[in-house]
Amino acid sequence: MAQIRKICCIGAGYVGGPTCSVIAQMCPEIAVTVVDVNEDRIKAWNSENLPIFEPGLQEVVESCRGVNLFFSTDIDAAIVDADLIFISVNTPTKTFGIGKGRAADLKYIEACARRIADLASGFKIVIEKSTVPVRASESIRRILTANTKCSLSFQVLSNPEFLAEGTAITDLKNPDRVLIGGDETPEGQQAIKTLSSIYEHWVPKNKIITTNTWSSELSKLAANAFLAQRISSINSISALCEVTGADVGEVAHAIGTDCRIGNKFLKASVGFGGSCFQKDVLNLVYLCEALNLPEVANYWQQVIEINNYQRRRFAARIIGSLFNTVTDKKIALLGFSFKKDTGDTRESSSIYISKYLMDEGAHLHIFDPKVKKEQVIQDLSHPSISEDDPDRVLRLVTVCADPYEACNKAHALVISTEWDMFKELDYERIYKAMLKPAFIFDGRRILDDLHAKLQNIGFQVETIGKKISQRLPFTTNHNHSKVDRQFPPTKKMKN
Ligand code: NAD
Ligand code: UDX
Repeated sequence: MAQIRKICCIGAGYVGGPTCSVIAQMCPEIAVTVVDVNEDRIKAWNSENLPIFEPGLQEVVESCRGVNLFFSTDIDAAIVDADLIFISVNTPTKTFGIGKGRAADLKYIEACARRIADLASGFKIVIEKSTVPVRASESIRRILTANTKCSLSFQVLSNPEFLAEGTAITDLKNPDRVLIGGDETPEGQQAIKTLSSIYEHWVPKNKIITTNTWSSELSKLAANAFLAQRISSINSISALCEVTGADVGEVAHAIGTDCRIGNKFLKASVGFGGSCFQKDVLNLVYLCEALNLPEVANYWQQVIEINNYQRRRFAARIIGSLFNTVTDKKIALLGFSFKKDTGDTRESSSIYISKYLMDEGAHLHIFDPKVKKEQVIQDLSHPSISEDDPDRVLRLVTVCADPYEACNKAHALVISTEWDMFKELDYERIYKAMLKPAFIFDGRRILDDLHAKLQNIGFQVETIGKKISQRLPFTTNHNHSKVDRQFPPTKKMKN
């Protein structure tokens, strides 16, 4: 079995950084170098302020940075030195050309393969860690074979990453499984064993699954599609709950106790966000279309449709409750990241809810404990969100340093990310400072236990997947199908 002394990881993002930090911590005899074209990102990895917020990450990085963990922009040197190279670059949805809005853009993967082919010699194991369409590793292999300059011999493996943001370090240290796909040839099997031996430093062998390359690539897309589908399924039921009097929390509990269904990933919400679910489901849809499987493509497309519907529906409920107009009203939006415990805003539902409210002329006062002001402004200034009116964000959006400031003189408070701190706020203080009737829209159901208390304070409480009988006389007619008809998105949203 090849001895691995040096690892290079191309891409110092949410996957490359944490994954290689944990490998370095668990394998002190291996030197791990994480490289990136983005100088600022590398600078941040080498500083006290890491470029991403992830619980437990700082401690792991500090335990081995400068010892056997290095962050560098010298990509070429790291490729030349490495025995094993992870490709962890981004694979975003294409925004132009064939497959626009659905297919994965593989230009960064191809650039890595070409760079490896240009520089590498001897034997290297090249590992596809990024999420890719099925058979992408075949492209890497062909590029390496066609372009090798220094008599390179290699094996290409698929080793998709299953970490979730916010829990990346625990996921990496205690994974449900590690998946490695490779060639069925003796050389391919040998390379699988070599990669497996790295994970075996801390992962029990029975959790390391080996498959052929295509199964591994497809399993990653399928896993994300199944998870996203569960959220769309429970969100579709939440719509039904709001008009029937059923409570989606109770329904989720009742169905989740069936061990065949299980209780995870059944939290109704404002819709899933993040850089992976939408991208990977769309990638799957595109793959099915390209392979002439339109029925399968349509099936998975519905997961996205329900997610978009849930975001629109929630915004429509806010507008409907606020007497069908939010124009010039102040709305406090608490939470901007796509989930708690991360500063990542990619595809966050908060962006879409903000868009719908801005389309109606609402003034948004946004607070998030981990998202910087520049990021909020950048996300909301994207042409697909700002409706080609770049000044709109400056006119309508204020980013606040604390939640109380955001709620001061607001007509409504909207919770769109489930940060724990939002459960602990002083709601009496907030109520006193808000305009009346004061509305709370709980898009994450984090205030479920507080509804009676909040109503006693005087709030009008609206929550996803539950019809709450209000005690005050300001009842509104929540006919969502009617509101939805009155409130179509003006233009197709960025997807
Ligand atoms: P990211 O955008 O945070 O990081 C990717 C990094 O790659 C960027 O810093 C970029 O500058 C760098 N890069 C791009 N091309 C490069 C090149 N040619 N040379 C050197 N550096 C280059 O992306 P991410 O969130 O870390 O995701 C990476 C991959 O992992 C994607 O395919 C994603 O789908 C997958 N994935 C992500 C997660 C997640 O939670 N974010 C989880 C599992 C899998
Ligand atoms: C996901 C996968 O979980 C992970 O395995 C994969 O490697 C990358 O994609 P991530 O996107 O980081 O991870 O976070 P995840 O916890 O899956 O949440 C995604 C979105 O779904 C978030 O917006 C979250 O708030 C939402 N969600 C999750 C729900 O709305 N309800 C749930 O029950 C669970």
